[in-house]
Amino acid sequence: FQTKELAGKKVVITAGGTKELIDPVRYIGNRSSGKMGLAMAKAAQNMGVEVTLITTVDAAIAGMNIIHIQTANEMMQQLQSIFPTVDVLIMAAAVADFKPLHVADQKIKKNDDEDFFTIKLTKNPDILKTIAATKTNQFVVGFAAETQNLLANAEKKLNSKHADVILANNVAQSDAGFGVDTNQITLLQKNKHPESLPLMSKDEVAQKFWEFYLTLVKA
Ligand code: PMT
Repeated sequence: FQTKELAGKKVVITAGGTKELIDPVRYIGNRSSGKMGLAMAKAAQNMGVEVTLITTVDAAIAGMNIIHIQTANEMMQQLQSIFPTVDVLIMAAAVADFKPLHVADQKIKKNDDEDFFTIKLTKNPDILKTIAATKTNQFVVGFAAETQNLLANAEKKLNSKHADVILANNVAQSDAGFGVDTNQITLLQKNKHPESLPLMSKDEVAQKFWEFYLTLVKA
């Protein structure tokens, strides 16, 4: 459903796992399918929000501005120019914390005499932390993908990354997190008790999130 409160609001959403190049044919990636971010984007569009989706996965949705990128640095560049123009940022993408220090110009050849091959990694920017530090009136939503100590780790991310809300998911659960159609989210806000939602489809998670955002806008 569309509401007058959300009509004309602008949101930028990231989705999918970044791909950090090793050479022209290889990359370091992760298991993110982009489903969670895409669900957020579609639900927003259905509620009358103007959506820009920055993603590593193939996606074409009528009426949505979709920007395809591969690496964390490319995602960061796109966000830096779009963020000042939006009302909401949602970082659903799984951003690689590290990338190869050097990207080989040519395909790396196997050396038959060596059993080991070493790739030196260097830190990627923390996109959410960097971008959210520049916020003026934007509402900033991060995810926390955890395999242990969900609440404690998510709480740390809420504080250190300047997010207004963290949506925490336990990615060790087989029916939540990466790749699957369902998710189980705990919503964290500053100075409020964490709110755990039941297991539901990613589309339902997205719908619940936008309903929650609507209550904040109306308040
Ligand atoms: O794509 P799906 O297959 O549907 O899976 C959904 C999901 C599991 C990827 C999604 O629900 C999710 O949890 N996304 C965040 C994954 C992640 O990178 O979590 P994190 O806890 O490592 O990072 C915390 C937050 O900081 C995230 O919002 C992330 O986008 C952001 N981040 C992380 C590292 C980095 N260098 N820069 C960032 O901005």
